[in-house]
Amino acid sequence: MSTEALPNAGEDIQRIHKSITRALNLAHQHTEAPGVIQAQQDGFSAYLRALTILLHAHHSGEDALAFPFWRERFPKGPFDTLIAQHQGMLASLARLERWLEESPAAWKNDRLSELHTLVSQLQALWLEHIALEEATIGETASRRYLTPEENQHLAQQLAEHGQTHSVPNALVMPFIIYNLEEEERVKFARLLPQVVLEQLIPGPWKAIWAPMSPFLLPAG
Ligand SMILES: [Fe+2]
Ligand SMILES: [Fe+2]
Repeated sequence: MSTEALPNAGEDIQRIHKSITRALNLAHQHTEAPGVIQAQQDGFSAYLRALTILLHAHHSGEDALAFPFWRERFPKGPFDTLIAQHQGMLASLARLERWLEESPAAWKNDRLSELHTLVSQLQALWLEHIALEEATIGETASRRYLTPEENQHLAQQLAEHGQTHSVPNALVMPFIIYNLEEEERVKFARLLPQVVLEQLIPGPWKAIWAPMSPFLLPAG
């Protein structure tokens, strides 16, 4: 078996990063010239709401599972810094959540420039954070320092935590999947119960996530 085919908890973490990074980049771009989002207010609000839920879920999985697991194996790693960076993003996330709670009243020109500022701040903090995190517990480090069994165990725990905390699943699971390119999407889907991709997303969940479609990659 090639090492690429072995379970790799760091690769799974980086895959979620790709989904979040695409969403932050898109939100940054669309709030800069908000013509498109003004015509799709409900869909863009749902998209940002899914983003905030996923950020909380992803960070709590790392705080509760990945960092303690890694700290035992790599006590000198920058885990206090990584945790502090998660906490540093909370203020921006809270302001973004407040903006969304005030929607649709917040859809005015001055409040849209505030939204752009919030997204920009969050994006900058995020990019700085994932650079350090991927260098510490990313794909390369996971392959080098964790056994396949440890990778399997941590990856499974993170996947279960993510699914439990990405609520509502009907909004957040499609958000993760359709912010990924096809190849990454297939790999992510392997962590999900089959029923999610084959039945729930195209079926009963569709009414919940479909408003986000203009901002997602095509279902393929
Ligand atoms: Fe992360
Ligand atoms: Fe993180």
